Amino acid sequence: MAKREDLPGSAGFGAKLTRTERVHRTVRPRRNRRTDWSRRMVRETVLTPDDLIWPLFIVEGTGVREPVASMPGVVRYSVDEAVKAVAEAERLGIPAIALFPYTNPALRDETGSEALNPDNLVCRACKAVKDAAPDIGIITDVALDPYTSHGHDGLVDDGRILNDETVNVLVEQSLIQVRAGADIIAPSDMMDGRVGAIREALEADGHIETQIMAYSAKYASGFYGPFRDAVGSSATLYGDKRTYQMDCGNTDEAIREAELDIAEGADMIMVKPGLPYLDILARLRATFGMPTYAYQVSGEYAMLCAAFENGWLKREVCMLESLIAFKRAGADGVLTYFALEAAKALQEG
Ligand code: PBG
Repeated sequence: MAKREDLPGSAGFGAKLTRTERVHRTVRPRRNRRTDWSRRMVRETVLTPDDLIWPLFIVEGTGVREPVASMPGVVRYSVDEAVKAVAEAERLGIPAIALFPYTNPALRDETGSEALNPDNLVCRACKAVKDAAPDIGIITDVALDPYTSHGHDGLVDDGRILNDETVNVLVEQSLIQVRAGADIIAPSDMMDGRVGAIREALEADGHIETQIMAYSAKYASGFYGPFRDAVGSSATLYGDKRTYQMDCGNTDEAIREAELDIAEGADMIMVKPGLPYLDILARLRATFGMPTYAYQVSGEYAMLCAAFENGWLKREVCMLESLIAFKRAGADGVLTYFALEAAKALQEG
């Protein structure tokens, strides 16, 4: 035990100090944390509305805002309501939205043919949103799961998910979405070679400026459950997606997947889910230096909301802390169901 007069700060000059005590007197990390202005001055990472991408669900009808039970606060919007909501997102400074359809179950079939209907829900939503909010980017999801009767992202033959046949359909789906006004095509299907095939078709069709955000490292995850409720595929999905989505034990494989997508013409890459995979995000960002996004998926959102609703966690502070974690790990932005709420909270300071 040090004697009281030897303790830093209490001993007079000239008192004999150990080396540790001398260092303690010189280096005090808490100095920078003492005041709010100083904390702001030294903060390494900030979150702004520019970092937020808002995924939203679309449903048929007019005047509809239909709650998704497993995602408190999230609704499915009819196109007219989506337009109003997206206009608000634009006002809040959110740079882009991502559209996901709840397809009428009567329109779902084995091959997901509604995905290729140029007048499907997503295409109508793209057009309406483009007219009403021209300064916000529109990201569309390329995959078949909202359209198939079996809930898989690709074509199925005897329980196997067919790769190359699916890619041909995804290429057509992408072209239809781009013609409807989509700015960024986001293949979330995890078929091999899809980014290259889509890029080639876009170039051939004259869409040389369309961006591709590749779901490069998309893991077969339990955290997608509430999303599948929202798009109505959880009721129908049989089996799992492990033959195309990645195994949660793998890291090097994420590097190889991202490398392929970049070589095939992706403009941006993504990691999904988010918080449970921050290590993957940090590694991809450091390896490739590409615009890299994280998807804070439905289950992460639901988990936080459950704790908020129980009064176990404070809503705003934990929401913002969960989002800045992505920035700190290297993300250029985050797809999050909290986007509107977070943008409002950030605006209000
Ligand atoms: C499917 C798709 C999924 C999500 C986005 N696109 C689910 C899945 O792969 O089954 C999940 C998003 C979320 O959970 O928020 N193409």
